[in-house]
Amino acid sequence: MMFRLAPSLLSADFAQLDREIAEVEAGGADLLHLDVMDGHFVPNLTFGPPVIAALAHCATVPLDAHLMVTDADSLIGPLAEAGVARVAVHVEACPHLHRTLTAIRDLGMAPGVALNPSTPISLLEEALAWVDFVLVMSVNPGFGGQRFIPETLSKITRLRAMATNGHLDISVDGGVDPDTIGPLVQAGATTLVAGSSVFGQTDRGAALKKLRESGAESPALQGETT
Ligand code: DX5
Ligand code: ZN
Repeated sequence: MMFRLAPSLLSADFAQLDREIAEVEAGGADLLHLDVMDGHFVPNLTFGPPVIAALAHCATVPLDAHLMVTDADSLIGPLAEAGVARVAVHVEACPHLHRTLTAIRDLGMAPGVALNPSTPISLLEEALAWVDFVLVMSVNPGFGGQRFIPETLSKITRLRAMATNGHLDISVDGGVDPDTIGPLVQAGATTLVAGSSVFGQTDRGAALKKLRESGAESPALQGETT
């Protein structure tokens, strides 16, 4: 199965996001991953709908919002207005998950559910029917540049086996780099979020190329063109 690359702007230069977006788009980014943090669900604070609305004017690829917030419901309308294409909410933060996911879809966006590293995939037994994608966290959310948690690989394999929808997009977020991307694709990941391994490099285009080549070396893709 082919895979997509979603650079995470968390590690970009916030003083020149328009230029950063242009560079990763020129380098072949498939999506732009936007980490919305509220300082409560995670111990960090980033940006919200007004900044995202501004970014939407610079971006040509779909915007992929990852909500690390305790009150996801209040952001869904403003994110739709801002022009976001997909929204992942954390299962740990959404007690009324069906309502939240339905609201995302009703506003024309693709709903996804995110899981912290310690959260079991069994919590998705019902919700898988209501989502277009699952965002598997391979680090504890809140910061870029953390070390990849290797147990994520078996989690993805088990999630792929659990999904009756063969088209379920399994996104992986945290510690994706040229060493981890091959095993992640092999395990069944189809969207790879990468922050520091792209924006931590001087040449963002070369970084994306390296990730794409490393991912394509996965035995799961032999015979396919990516
Ligand atoms: C972390 C964020 C990630 C972050 C990943 O909470 O959800 O999207 O940008 O950063 P890297 O790729 O550096 O691990
Ligand atoms: Zn993220």
